[in-house]
Amino acid sequence: MSLVHEIDYGTPKSRAEKTVTLTVDGFAVTVPEGTSVMRAATEAGIGVPKLCATDMMDAYGSCRLCVVEVEGMRGTPASCTTPVVEGMKVRTQTERLKAIRKGVMELYISDHPLDCLTCAANGDCELQTQAGAVGLREVRYGYEGENHLGKAKDQSNPYFQFDPSKCIVCSRCVRACGEVQGTFALTVDGRGFDSLISAGTSYDDFLSSECVSCGACVQACPTATLQEKSVVQIGTPDRSVVTTCAYCGVGCSFKAEMRGDELVRMVPYKDGKANRGHSCVKGRFAFGYATHKDRILNPMIRDHYSQPWREVSWEEAFAFSAAKIKDIQDRHGRGSVGAISSSRCTNEEVYLVQKLVRAGFGNNNIDTCARVCHSPTGYGLKTTFGTSAGTQDFDSVEYTDVALVIGANPTDGHPVFASRLKKRLREGAKLIVIDPRRIDLVRTPHVEAEHHLALKPGTNVAMVTALAHVIVTEGLVNESFVRERCDWDDFQEWAAFVAEERHSPEAVERVTGVPAEEVRKAARLYATGGNGAIYYGLGVTEHSQGSTTVMAIANLAMVTGNIGRVGVGVNPLRGQNNVQGSCDMGSFPHELPGYRHISTDEVRSIYEDLWGVVIDKEPGLRIPNMFDAAVEGTFKGLYVQGEDILQSDPDTKHVSAGLAALELLIVHDLFLNETANYANVFLPGSSFLEKDGTFTNAERRINRVRKVMAPRNGLADWEVTQRLAQAMGLDMNYGHPSEIMAEIAATTPSFANVTYDLLERMGSVQWPCNETFPEGAPIMHVDEFMRGKGKFVITEYVPTDERTGPRFPLLLTTGRILSQYNVGAQTRRTQNVLWHDEDVLEIHPHDAEQRGIRESDWVRLDSRSGSTSLRARITTRVAPGVVYTTFHHPATQANVITTDFSDWATNCPEYKVTAVQISPSNGPTDWQEDYRELTEESRRIAVAEAAE
Ligand code: SF4
Ligand code: SF4
Ligand code: SF4
Ligand code: FES
Repeated sequence: MSLVHEIDYGTPKSRAEKTVTLTVDGFAVTVPEGTSVMRAATEAGIGVPKLCATDMMDAYGSCRLCVVEVEGMRGTPASCTTPVVEGMKVRTQTERLKAIRKGVMELYISDHPLDCLTCAANGDCELQTQAGAVGLREVRYGYEGENHLGKAKDQSNPYFQFDPSKCIVCSRCVRACGEVQGTFALTVDGRGFDSLISAGTSYDDFLSSECVSCGACVQACPTATLQEKSVVQIGTPDRSVVTTCAYCGVGCSFKAEMRGDELVRMVPYKDGKANRGHSCVKGRFAFGYATHKDRILNPMIRDHYSQPWREVSWEEAFAFSAAKIKDIQDRHGRGSVGAISSSRCTNEEVYLVQKLVRAGFGNNNIDTCARVCHSPTGYGLKTTFGTSAGTQDFDSVEYTDVALVIGANPTDGHPVFASRLKKRLREGAKLIVIDPRRIDLVRTPHVEAEHHLALKPGTNVAMVTALAHVIVTEGLVNESFVRERCDWDDFQEWAAFVAEERHSPEAVERVTGVPAEEVRKAARLYATGGNGAIYYGLGVTEHSQGSTTVMAIANLAMVTGNIGRVGVGVNPLRGQNNVQGSCDMGSFPHELPGYRHISTDEVRSIYEDLWGVVIDKEPGLRIPNMFDAAVEGTFKGLYVQGEDILQSDPDTKHVSAGLAALELLIVHDLFLNETANYANVFLPGSSFLEKDGTFTNAERRINRVRKVMAPRNGLADWEVTQRLAQAMGLDMNYGHPSEIMAEIAATTPSFANVTYDLLERMGSVQWPCNETFPEGAPIMHVDEFMRGKGKFVITEYVPTDERTGPRFPLLLTTGRILSQYNVGAQTRRTQNVLWHDEDVLEIHPHDAEQRGIRESDWVRLDSRSGSTSLRARITTRVAPGVVYTTFHHPATQANVITTDFSDWATNCPEYKVTAVQISPSNGPTDWQEDYRELTEESRRIAVAEAAE
């Protein structure tokens, strides 16, 4: 196995359809119009020396190393900034060009330390390579003159260093930060010889700057100036494996670059169709949790959660678990046990868990964490469009004219998609943000939302219906689309409903708190501004009307004809890496893989014939029902794979009561998480680096996960589930995840053509991938909706039962921060804690003043469910009456506060609306103190490691 090298074409691909033919060194090459001479030469297999150019960014033309001669053109133009012309004759190697390049390179090298042998980038440095390529063998200028060699390194960032003595001021980093990432944290200070790259004039170093540690500048740097610390410490990698990030639903592809068995770095893969070579701090750098000392590597059991753990062999753990499950079922019935699959695990692993439940436990008590995030997406989009998934690919955003972002915070939650969206916005697309909080996208460098509709939490349905009211009553309906593609009767009924005066922006202003005129303008922009694309997140789904809002959004797309082509659509930004896949794989208690209802005889019989069992035709228990039944004493055993339900599910008191009531709780995870406090079997999990399989991202893209290193516990997660199934007497004997995928494809129509061979060949495919779409479907509902005619659904606004009042006058809403992920099990065990080591409560200055709360004061947060304490951050990001926090740290336990209200259709908890009161407090409670000490220890380790 060797390093995967991707060709750098020097400049981005042109999108033009017209082609141009030219000759380069006598070879004919045909490329799209607008291509640079450099790219055309590279495509013809002729390398042109370069330093300031790279194909992730537009050409800059500063280094002059890439000069060429063009017949009929005076001088020696830079090939990176010269576009091709029909019939052009280019020469890349002449004596004149060689002399120019050597002279240019000599100047660079004369102000560059000649420490190649001990440099971290030795052998992986473009400057070194190009010096060789241009034939530079000596440098005539000495080092006695003025130079930059003594400049001090900036080591502040935990993951990469900045060594200005090696900088050639090519500006690739500055442009990467702006053009690719969209943060614009870097500048070139000074002029000429004094030019210096800086992380902004107001900041001392990278860590304190606006930098979000995405790594794009490190990636772009052709020298060792910006260099991963892991390469400095371990050495340059010698092999790479292409795999998929295990954090968010963007599903970025990476080259996991290894030296021996050690992971040196994760390099974003340019061929990755979700990320196109970009990354965020989590996927790029936060992989240290996989080798963290907290990993549990041996199975453990105990008779009761109050007892100490006992390490046992895998065999004993499986035998113990299987015997307990059988015993519970003998005493309490078949339905007394169940499982929760993990949206962090692969499709194949999730498929096996639901198979274990249906074929082994003999019931349908299988659910997944999608229950608490995007289950309303499944319900809402299936009802309206016929498929429980987003409609577009991420590339589609490049053709969007108006982006409507509702209940999502992409710069924190889905950062690589956010960078792609920001790029499009800088090109001129318009943005509408619907969110109670002023998220970064509302105003960020070179991007400003046209409209920010800062609605009150819990009023999404009223808001989206008001947008529809404007579209219908102001004659902005795309009638030809609706007549041709949608159910006309449903539409008419719906149109009459939304046209009612009570849905006008003026009427709902008192509900949403958003000025009517602003809503009208936003509706007009979305309906008439060209390609309109809707992106939404958990701020839509995690409400008592989550499913209604999803359907209201679908109505909006249909009524404006913004569906079924590139640049438009309805795009849920899925939370976890494989939450789409875990839903696809039959993790819901009422659905077999491919979203087919369990009560359908023909579907059940497919699996009954294959598995040789009878499948229960009644839907099983959802997660909240499992806890209810456990408290009632009818549900006794639970297998939880890769999910810390005690932290992630609402109403912690109720969850812990349910867990404590179980006779058997099997936790299958990397770490002893909070849920494991109540477990009597712990099965060690494997990280994404230790197994083969597939993840399906938010655009339905099935990406390969490839084994980079051996499982540290000895077994990949799919093998653990299989062994547990075998211990229960189930006939489950897969030799490799590709065999599980073969079974998925054979039994699930939307996956019929998916094979590991196809994934090798195509890189990735988006389902449906079958006879109709042999290589997948980037855009769905092109000619007709999956359900036939699009269905308009009446979306009556019903206020949540969670109301503010004198006791709880404020509304709490929750969200994520860039550096942390979910309940923090992984990211808290990385140096990402340097950016966010505790959750804080954002409070508007007015509310803070009323309560005598100052910045960083401890505040007590009380709701009807419970209370916690955290520090205050006073900010106008939130409106008066609204407070906001993240939920990444167990010391906060935000879910102690949240209620058990949930979506009417799917039981998805209403995390986004909790009535609360806040008051000054003396500090954390005792239980919080214990957690704080743990977090403090992680931080100390991170600081010490960063300083090394
Ligand atoms: S830090 Fe690297 S990319 Fe940035 S200007 Fe210097 S050499 Fe170029
Ligand atoms: S790491 Fe990313 S955000 Fe930070 S300076 Fe580099 S490109 Fe900009
Ligand atoms: S955007 Fe999501 S998938 Fe991509 S690197 Fe970041 S966390 Fe991973
Ligand atoms: S690579 Fe063309 S001018 Fe630098």
